Amino acid sequence: MHKRIEQVLPGEILAADLVDTAGRLLFPKGATLSENAVAALVQRGVTDIEVEDERVPLNAEQLKQAAENAHKFYAGHDLGVAPGPMLLGLRTEAEAMRIERGLPPLLRDCRGPVDPVPLPQELPIFCLNGFEPPQLPAVAQELNLALSAPDPSSTKIVELITRSPGLTAKLLRLVNTPLYGFQRKVETVSRAVSIVGLREVGMLASSLLMVDQFGVIPKSVIEMRSFLEHSLGCALTCKTLAEVTGLAQPEKAFVTGLLHDIGRLYFFTSFPERSRYCIDSALKHQRPLMTEEALFFGIDHADMGERLLDGWGMPGGLSRTVGCHHDPARAADLPLAGIVHLADLLTHAMGLGCSGECGPPQARPEVMDLVPVQPEHMVDIAIRIETQLGLIMGAFQ
Ligand SMILES: [Fe+2]
Ligand SMILES: [Fe+2]
Repeated sequence: MHKRIEQVLPGEILAADLVDTAGRLLFPKGATLSENAVAALVQRGVTDIEVEDERVPLNAEQLKQAAENAHKFYAGHDLGVAPGPMLLGLRTEAEAMRIERGLPPLLRDCRGPVDPVPLPQELPIFCLNGFEPPQLPAVAQELNLALSAPDPSSTKIVELITRSPGLTAKLLRLVNTPLYGFQRKVETVSRAVSIVGLREVGMLASSLLMVDQFGVIPKSVIEMRSFLEHSLGCALTCKTLAEVTGLAQPEKAFVTGLLHDIGRLYFFTSFPERSRYCIDSALKHQRPLMTEEALFFGIDHADMGERLLDGWGMPGGLSRTVGCHHDPARAADLPLAGIVHLADLLTHAMGLGCSGECGPPQARPEVMDLVPVQPEHMVDIAIRIETQLGLIMGAFQ
């Protein structure tokens, strides 16, 4: 649909790439236009754009189908934890969107047991006693040290990041996605630091190195892409919830969301057989995967994530928040832990990727007091995240 820029409402989606007079891409097709983005386009002299047609309401039959599909999504792996009206409502909305787009219903792709199933005593040993986190690359170690200083040196942090061409490229790809909404392309790390913030860019760089630290999850456990989608979906949701509620610094929330399941990434990549055993056992006994982790690793992924980040000297108190993301009441930073908890639930409800857990994690009712977001806003947030995720996945591959 063609619109004059002054008629565009925040939240509308671009139906075609938007380029300036020199042919440079301003926003790609599918980007959701925020209030700031619309104001920026007005400033740049954009007068007309193409946005997606308004959604045509589904008929009663289609709505019934969407609700049935949502129930099917959770059926068979509710792990004794009812999804609740909020998650079911979100899943119904997501299924309604799939019907609108002519897509089949989403069924979570959980692998069946591997054949032959090993006995627990046949699995490679994991010993928690004397556990030491794997060594981070030197750049990440130095970055965490520099960021822990009361007044970090901008020169030092930029020098550390640019020492790694791979990290620099990934960081700049991410900062140049529509997620950050910059009008001009950010060409250098020092420019990114000056507009995004020193600690924010430093922590983002450090978290990217940590996610890369473990390499790729073997296919016998789960798909790496699916795990990355879950982590990024959660990171985007954390950032949005932080912006909407004002309860946390958005970039810090993004980094915490990105790292929230890092303990599981460590299990999956370093102990794939034991991890696969846990997933199969969770399916077989209809229990949360966390329960099986505690049984077969002696520690669940949240506590393992806290140990890893503590051992690596991750600044900003993030390790405790990651350690409490399934039980935010224990966290020192209650609002941020609440945001991560809720974001994790929403990411599961929207079916964005897979963390290895075949049902939604157990919702803590107190989180809705910690992060007061109206249910109708949840749907808007979820729709925005789905669009953003498609746009930033490319920056990570
Ligand atoms: Fe988790
Ligand atoms: Fe998660």
